[in-house]
Amino acid sequence: MEVVILPDAEAVAALAARTVAAELRRAERPVLGLATGSSPLGIYAALRGIVEAGELSMDGVRGFALDEYVGLPVGHPESYAEVVRREAVVPLGMDPALVRVPDGAAEDIEAACADYERAIAEAGGVTVQILGIGGNGHIGFNEPTSSLASRTRIKTLAAATRQANARFFAEADGASVPTHCLTQGLGTILEAGALVLVAQGEHKAEAIRQAVEGPLSSRWPASALQLHRRATVIVDEEAASRL
Ligand code: GLP
Repeated sequence: MEVVILPDAEAVAALAARTVAAELRRAERPVLGLATGSSPLGIYAALRGIVEAGELSMDGVRGFALDEYVGLPVGHPESYAEVVRREAVVPLGMDPALVRVPDGAAEDIEAACADYERAIAEAGGVTVQILGIGGNGHIGFNEPTSSLASRTRIKTLAAATRQANARFFAEADGASVPTHCLTQGLGTILEAGALVLVAQGEHKAEAIRQAVEGPLSSRWPASALQLHRRATVIVDEEAASRL
């Protein structure tokens, strides 16, 4: 695992975007692993700059999101399908037909999860996966005690995660955060060719410490990155303050 500590969030986003662009550029079948939450927003903005400067083409680049809420109406502004469309697909000029998000509205959840895994495999796997990290160490929505070998499946959201994400729902329509989600498993995420995890701020410091220096443990799901040969953790000084 490579850990890079930079002075501020802007520098974190810039380096993460350059790293992602380099991975996509040299891939024969480029597939971008998309993350939601606030952490990766700067990456998408910086990537857009790289695309607009003509240094990266998103033509034909496929995309797979990490996770989705269960039970939100299609088109809900805080559904990850919408967030991914708004924050990444549109600004980066990706072809929406090439981008998938787990189907949180599926009647047969198990079939939808199996189908998602199949689609990733058929695309040739994720080239580079962008990751944020929850304060409790989750990646995607793999909450503490998620199996290190887990695949795309339905999960119950931790109370702390629902609380942390309530801010988005208050802004959208005041509705409460769903109780369940679909998420790529830790085993799924670990199959990406490269992982780029970003974190900014003191509230992520303990999760970063556990992920980087703690023992490999499902108690801190992001510690699974220790198993990956090409994982880069890019953090600002506050998120690195307990290293
Ligand atoms: C969310 C997402 C994660 C994200 C994390 C941190 O709930 N499912 O993919 O990394 O929680 O969110 P934020 O970046 O807003 O702090």
